[in-house]
Amino acid sequence: MAEDKVTEDMSSVQITASAEDEDVVDPWNVTSKSDTGIDYDKLIKRFGSSKIDAAVIERFEKVTGHKAHPFLRRGIFFSHRDLNTILTAHEQGKPFYLYTGRGPSSAAMHLGHLIPFIFTKWLQEVFDVPLVIQLTDDEKTLWKDIKLEEAIRLSYENVKDIIAVGFDPEKTFIFSDLEFIGQCPAFYQNMVRVQKCVTFNQVKGIFGFGDSDVIGKISFPAIQASPAFSTSFPFIFGKAKLPCLIPCAIDQDPYFRMTRDVAPRIGMPKPALMHSTFFPALQGAQTKMSASDDNTAIYLTDTPKQIKNKINKHAFSGGCATVEEHREKGGNCDVDISYQYLTFFLDDDDKLMQIKIDYTSGAILTGELKKELITILTALVGAHQERRAKVTTEVIKQFMEIRKLKYNYS
Ligand code: TRP
Repeated sequence: MAEDKVTEDMSSVQITASAEDEDVVDPWNVTSKSDTGIDYDKLIKRFGSSKIDAAVIERFEKVTGHKAHPFLRRGIFFSHRDLNTILTAHEQGKPFYLYTGRGPSSAAMHLGHLIPFIFTKWLQEVFDVPLVIQLTDDEKTLWKDIKLEEAIRLSYENVKDIIAVGFDPEKTFIFSDLEFIGQCPAFYQNMVRVQKCVTFNQVKGIFGFGDSDVIGKISFPAIQASPAFSTSFPFIFGKAKLPCLIPCAIDQDPYFRMTRDVAPRIGMPKPALMHSTFFPALQGAQTKMSASDDNTAIYLTDTPKQIKNKINKHAFSGGCATVEEHREKGGNCDVDISYQYLTFFLDDDDKLMQIKIDYTSGAILTGELKKELITILTALVGAHQERRAKVTTEVIKQFMEIRKLKYNYS
């Protein structure tokens, strides 16, 4: 059938691992058999994206005039699609916008959930562009055992944590799918345009849907695709067809490979992407943070005491069993979770480097490494909680109201 012809972008979207020893990375599963976690270079090849290498970072710094964020310098945002197009647009003074999102599956968010938002906030400051944030409460009610009303409630809990990251209300529109889409015909019209371009065979190939999946799941990808088109938000962009840059964890890529495939067929630019690695669970890089086990992650609601206990008791150590052995052989930073967490949250490059050298040589013990991490995370989570406490209903309304942002487009 002609409509089932798979075009170039979609042919590489097969997400399930072909060989048994391969890492599994899709929107619902992330698993690796290796104790150092996912092999990200292999993933770039398999997905057909591009590496954020030294040359890309250099160009980013040159074009923006900003030193690259630690997440870029340290390979946490490690892969991209068409980032150069965005940098060229910025260089030429042409407008674009940012889009990211969150599926509100539980009230308590953990540190890993913050990564894309912290980075997106930085991008918003560096580029001074509008940002749209999609809360896919529809996705969560379709996939999880959560009532629709509960999913909306979770959107409103999570939005407080997102706002607490520090976004600018004059530049940021946050929306719950379940509440917003019905009020915005332009968004729904783009959804239908996307739905008209993608066959059941194609979504089966991309997302692995089967005959017993509910039809809501099968059409959901069109909902996550639509915010990548500026015409979905006429109150912000007017009729302008702007390119968009999507920072996200790499497991979301299947949605956007589909989106990129559809874009030219509906007369819109393909969205560009920046992909992050996954934030490891306390127990180690091959395990997953689990919403049902509190001890696998640091939550944004944790007290200083809980943070201390979790790290001391549960953070997987790359150190040796005894002090003597550790002093002699040293620790392994590649598997040590406290060290991994420091690469996310310790901003000082020199200090991080020194810790790596000293831990690898055995000069510092696991306990000292953990102490450093506990200090940093206690401050970070404490500051987050203070900002979150200030997010009132009024503030939420400011971000979620359908309105024009501070930018003008003709
Ligand atoms: N599906 C994502 C999740 O479950 C939420 C999401 C929607 C998203 N749109 C996005 C994430 C854009 C990143 C970028 O968390």
